Amino acid sequence: MKLEQRYEGKAKRVYATENPHEYIVEYKDDATAFNGVKKAQIRGKGEINNAITAHLFPLLEAAGIPTHFVERLSDREQRVRAVEIIPVEVIVRNVAAGSFSERLGVEEGTELRRPVVEYCYKSDTLGDPLINTDTAVALDWAGEEELSRIRELALRVRDFLTPYFAGRGIRLVDFKLEFGRTHDGQIILADEISPDTCRFWDAATNEKLDKDRFRRDLGGVEDAYAEMLRRVIAPAQG
Ligand SMILES: Nc1ncnc2c1ncn2[C@@H]1O[C@H](COP(=O)(O)OP(=O)(O)OP(=O)(O)O)[C@@H](O)[C@H]1O
Ligand SMILES: [Mg+2]
Repeated sequence: MKLEQRYEGKAKRVYATENPHEYIVEYKDDATAFNGVKKAQIRGKGEINNAITAHLFPLLEAAGIPTHFVERLSDREQRVRAVEIIPVEVIVRNVAAGSFSERLGVEEGTELRRPVVEYCYKSDTLGDPLINTDTAVALDWAGEEELSRIRELALRVRDFLTPYFAGRGIRLVDFKLEFGRTHDGQIILADEISPDTCRFWDAATNEKLDKDRFRRDLGGVEDAYAEMLRRVIAPAQG
């Protein structure tokens, strides 16, 4: 049962339930970019991101990565374990793109010799600035051991998802994860994995199938999200 709303973000609402250790997350069609400067609705996005996350999280769980996912409840809703979100966005990159390319002057699409894990402070007002793990420890956002666990889990997510998407004709360029702390102190993967939070390029054409279509006004945003849901639930090719 959905009780009072606990948080409303740009893409989801989080509700308390009768179980203090569980929340219900409701996925919205709202989309924002550039720290909320650009706002619109992407028709069907809430249902698609709910479905993609609900498909991938149990697979990650089976691959040994603890997650907040409990069950999908409806088109837009899922039940999750309640966590205290660590205010650090964890970005894993396989290929140079976005802010990495801009910051370092590396052409988008450049394959990286090894995956790169980056950390940003989750703060809309500050524009999610880049930090390192020393910053997170110094400011009491997470402990040293929690951060090494987070890095290990983020790389395991990458090791699972990269071949998973490759088998479905998708180049997993980069993605953003959020981790949380359960009431008993366990670090688990929270939030979502969707075209809002990943860069997905068609492996054959490099066509973008993610939120960059919205950020960069490329058109075909709804179609790209729908195509990603089809690819995610499809069996692997070849
Ligand atoms: N299992 C969970 N327990 C508690 N909070 C969660 C859980 N999973 C996700 N959240 C939080 O729910 C909030 C709403 O999600 P949404 O994606 O809409 O946020 P957002 O607009 O991206 O903003 P934020 O910058 O806070 O992430 C976020 O703060 C997210 O960290
Ligand atoms: Mg979000």
